[in-house]
Amino acid sequence: STRPSICFRPINPSDLERLEQIHRDIFPIRYESEFFQNVVNGGDILSWAAVDRSRPDGLSDELIGFVTAKIGPAKETEISDLIRYDSCKGEETLVYILTLGVVESYRKRGIAKLLIKEVIKYACSIPACRGVYLHVIAHNSPAIRLYKRMSFRCVRRLHGFYIINGQHFDSFLFVYFINVQ
Ligand code: ACO
Repeated sequence: STRPSICFRPINPSDLERLEQIHRDIFPIRYESEFFQNVVNGGDILSWAAVDRSRPDGLSDELIGFVTAKIGPAKETEISDLIRYDSCKGEETLVYILTLGVVESYRKRGIAKLLIKEVIKYACSIPACRGVYLHVIAHNSPAIRLYKRMSFRCVRRLHGFYIINGQHFDSFLFVYFINVQ
């Protein structure tokens, strides 16, 4: 078999079905169709897709991984207390990662790491941006190892943050600080 040739590209409307399918397959939480519409139509959600160009025709542009995020004022986030404010630099912002996933057969090749790097690169390009943060369910060891390896810091444990089938689960809040003087 040919060696995978992983590329990153924006998510577009033709990804809708596949994006919804992967989210259904790998997350315990359901997302509204409004969320997917916003992602594929480039609303206020930022996204990056991973594809394998070495797959046979018809599949060479199909999503094998993705990351979705949004940017907003740091003051309006739950970690506003962790940000240093500097009035001459304009309103500080933070990037929040909503979802990150890689289909099972493409895991453990560094694709998620590269997707996170894309988000960090984007965040670093915005002068007023102070970091990237996310929530992860407390028992998701592969994801937690990934964030730690990429120098995210665990700043909080939120009790009962997720409710799945009526059961409460804790989450960790991880932050990658940038542009910190
Ligand atoms: N050869 C061998 N091992 C490798 C290679 C390689 N070339 N490249 C990376 N690895 C290893 C890493 O060291 C890491 O090892 P570890 O888990 O033992 O520490 C492991 O592979 C995973 O790292 P990546 O390859 O960068 O990550 P991957 O692409 O496998 O994706 C992810 C990780 C996203 C967590 C995936 O498992 C997944 O989609 N899970 C289900 C959905 C999920 O949990 N998403 C995150 C939820 S939190 C949120 O969405 C904000």
